[in-house]
Amino acid sequence: MANSEIKVLYNQIFINNKFINSVSGNTFITLNPANKQKIADVAEGDKADVDLAVKAARAAFKIESEWRTIGATARGQLLLKLADLINDHKITLASLESLDNGKPYEDSLLDIDASISTLKYYAGFADKIHGKTIPTNEPYFSFTKPQPVGVVGQIIPWNYPILMLAWKWGPALASGCTLVLKPAEQTPLTSLYIAALSKEAGFPDGVINVVPGYGPTAGAAISRHPDINKVAFTGSTEVGKLIMQEAARSNMKRVTLELGGKSPLVIFDDFDVDEAASIARDAVFANMGQCCCAGTRTFVQEGIYEKFVEKAAKLASEMKVGNPFESETKVGPLVDEEQYNKVLGMIESGKKEGAKLEAGGSKVGDVGYFVRPTVFSNVTDDMRIAKEEIFGPVQQILKFKTIDEVIERSNNTEYGLAAGILTKNIDIALKFSESVDAGSVWVNCYEAVNPLCPFGGFKQSGLGRELGEDGLTGYLEIKTVSIKKLN
Ligand code: NAI
Ligand code: MG
Repeated sequence: MANSEIKVLYNQIFINNKFINSVSGNTFITLNPANKQKIADVAEGDKADVDLAVKAARAAFKIESEWRTIGATARGQLLLKLADLINDHKITLASLESLDNGKPYEDSLLDIDASISTLKYYAGFADKIHGKTIPTNEPYFSFTKPQPVGVVGQIIPWNYPILMLAWKWGPALASGCTLVLKPAEQTPLTSLYIAALSKEAGFPDGVINVVPGYGPTAGAAISRHPDINKVAFTGSTEVGKLIMQEAARSNMKRVTLELGGKSPLVIFDDFDVDEAASIARDAVFANMGQCCCAGTRTFVQEGIYEKFVEKAAKLASEMKVGNPFESETKVGPLVDEEQYNKVLGMIESGKKEGAKLEAGGSKVGDVGYFVRPTVFSNVTDDMRIAKEEIFGPVQQILKFKTIDEVIERSNNTEYGLAAGILTKNIDIALKFSESVDAGSVWVNCYEAVNPLCPFGGFKQSGLGRELGEDGLTGYLEIKTVSIKKLN
């Protein structure tokens, strides 16, 4: 389908349940990374638009507002309704997601299923957010009451646009917050479409606001806004640090951050090598490697190292690169020129620093931002490709001998998002799980991400947790009420 045949329904800023132009009147272009052609012009939000959105969200959060008084069960029902509408519009949403982001259509469908599960999981939580009664000494009766933190700003990236929206909206809305979301400039379209669905679901005016725009303008306006109570961010560690600084400098808004990673997947030689290679392939090449928890450092024990490298190279070479809308396609384009240049640059650095190229290693044509699944062996810990987040389809294979050595090397990074281990030996698996600095540890599998399980980073991979019950706490303030008995 030529881009000119595509009709985008929603390309404006969404405030107070209405689509409006930006205050400046400016727009920006969103591209299809598979052919570099324009999909649509989108209203470009900036500080003035963020101000309007925050005003709307603040009014919707007033104590006597419809949103604050409809009751917890009704909030859950609205979330369920939104989840159902997303399901009804799945084909359109998946098409839009694949057009804007480049990910294979089948993967967009999976992301949508996961998003629906996330919204439904948090819908169930809406009326199960309980406080505690506290046995203080007489004459006090004390209890805690978790309350919504207030107006929240949410800044999301382009790698999983719908899913990141669901991770942010689920807990925010279940807990009764109101929100201003800024989608990534590369992928604004599905957030706007879901904003329209949220209106149809029946969320009151101002509860949900979406302001597309750029990071240093619209994003920064959110992180420094004096009337936003919390900012939730997913993206680079570099920008995560900026957001924390701006939050501290402005009004000490609460901050949760999901940032970069350089996650290890450790494979012991008691594990079936073919199965290991296939788990490792999915760990690193899913979503073209544009995944914060991608298992990019593949540590393989020396006994199966040679066999593993051979198998990994074969699996990578077999992955079909191409049009995201063809069902055999496993690898679509990278999201934009910046990522494309970054990934190709990292591949060059791997070659220069002496890693052995086993598969891929190049771009594919010039029509879109396609990069071949690339495998490097003989990677050493000091190489850039072993240290820096690549965020592309590039696997690094490193050899190790012992558990103690591989724990130390796994932890020798500023990041700590996820880790995987493949072994039949339960003692080794437990020792690794205990010792590795990572928010998620996956044993005999990889990327077992689930809305029920908390997800987030140690060290510079982030702050706080999303998903699970822990994901709610970032959207709640705990208020302690103590009542004195007068007689
Ligand atoms: P980024 O961190 O710049 O962008 C993520 C989001 O933050 C976008 O919505 C962007 O508009 C916004 N943003 C950018 N600058 C901002 C600022 N000063 N204040 C407030 N918001 C701001 O990430 P980018 O440039 O798209 O990708 C760079 C690298 O970051 C990637 O190569 C990858 O290594 C990492 N990354 C990690 C992600 C993750 O899931 N943890 C997601 C996206 C990128
Ligand atoms: Mg950036």
